[in-house]
Amino acid sequence: MSHITNLHARRVWDSRGVPTVEVDIQLDTGRMGRAIAPSGASRGRREALELRDGGDDIGGKDVQKAIANVNGPIARALIGKNSQNQTEIDQALLALDPSPLKDTIGGNAITATSMAVLHAGASDADLPLFAYVAELAGTTPSLPLPEIQIFGGGAHAGRRVDIQDFMIMVPGAASFEEALRITREVYFAAGDIMARRGQQSGIADEGGWWPAFTSNEEALETLVQAIELAGEAPGKNVVISLDIAASEFGKSGQYKLALDNKTLSSEEMIALLTNWIDAYPIASIEDPLAEDDIDGMVAFTKQFGDRLQIIGDDYLVTNASLVERAITDGAANAVLIKVNQIGTITEAIDTFFTAKKAAWGTIVSARSGETEDVTISHLSTGLGAGQLKVGSFQRSERMVKWNECLRIQESLGSDKFVAGAPLANSWWAKSS
Ligand code: PGA
Ligand code: ZN
Repeated sequence: MSHITNLHARRVWDSRGVPTVEVDIQLDTGRMGRAIAPSGASRGRREALELRDGGDDIGGKDVQKAIANVNGPIARALIGKNSQNQTEIDQALLALDPSPLKDTIGGNAITATSMAVLHAGASDADLPLFAYVAELAGTTPSLPLPEIQIFGGGAHAGRRVDIQDFMIMVPGAASFEEALRITREVYFAAGDIMARRGQQSGIADEGGWWPAFTSNEEALETLVQAIELAGEAPGKNVVISLDIAASEFGKSGQYKLALDNKTLSSEEMIALLTNWIDAYPIASIEDPLAEDDIDGMVAFTKQFGDRLQIIGDDYLVTNASLVERAITDGAANAVLIKVNQIGTITEAIDTFFTAKKAAWGTIVSARSGETEDVTISHLSTGLGAGQLKVGSFQRSERMVKWNECLRIQESLGSDKFVAGAPLANSWWAKSS
């Protein structure tokens, strides 16, 4: 059991070329832990704030204040603490910044520190990170079902389509590795179809194709064609998963779909999604309604909760109290877990357990601004969270997470894979 002797934060750059915070934690044994805060673009209103400097330099996005907060007050509070005492350390971080949005010390400073402590603790315990997470949380590790983006839209692709993520899941895969391989075939089949039609205009923020579709529904049609072109069976071993990210185009019960040239009420938005759910093999939908439209979330969950995974992201922001309330309201049946939405590892694990107790699905997720940090591959596997959402099957900040899971698979065994279990309550499980 060793103690923290030093913290050092530095500015590094994320996948969008935006500054972010990296933290190194030194232990008295000479071991260390290192982690980098990710960054969102389609952020929830109630998530922890990424502290940025403002002003003219680097578009106001520099993180010198957050770095100074790690090297100053955070270092003073943490030096001398036992690196394996994650809960106590996270509490000390929260005591430094009790504001609900963590805007004094900065969510980015807190997240990078909390994750770096996790790495340092694992190193001190001589355990791979996923095994250390499992020990810390008292969970059984298993490799997650990947949720992988084929087309990127919304805030990640110049709003070329309104819907943010058109993804697939391969619940019929025999192993994590096979799920990746099948996803790759679908990804490149989609690219071929779009290239043939002259619709390919680049790569979106999370590595999915940046499409040039004429309607949101055309993306769904093309996705089904891509699954078929890859020689797979839509609705059998491969299903569709959408992140509508409705808060990006919906406010006060008005949903403005620019590509379809429509403004819809909450009821009409649900009717549109109903048409898509009836016509395409969609097994999971994230943020179908806006974060301010709780009545819409409740109505949608009442209608589809027994056959779809309904995920709250911007709506729940990895916040245990918001998840608790949504469980009571019946306003979703799964939650995205993004450590930097809430701040610390301890809070993220707390939210995970809050969801699990209600038999909700849990999906550990990357942000649209990412780095070489692989903490979430271990968090997802160690908690046995069931699912991992990282973006697409291209760009190294995405691939490092999938590749890290392949390394974990070697030590854990390929049989420790959840396969279709996370979709056990969906139409997919009932029909297969
Ligand atoms: P963000 O998007 O990281 O830009 O918030 C990811 C998501 O909405 O799941
Ligand atoms: Zn989302």
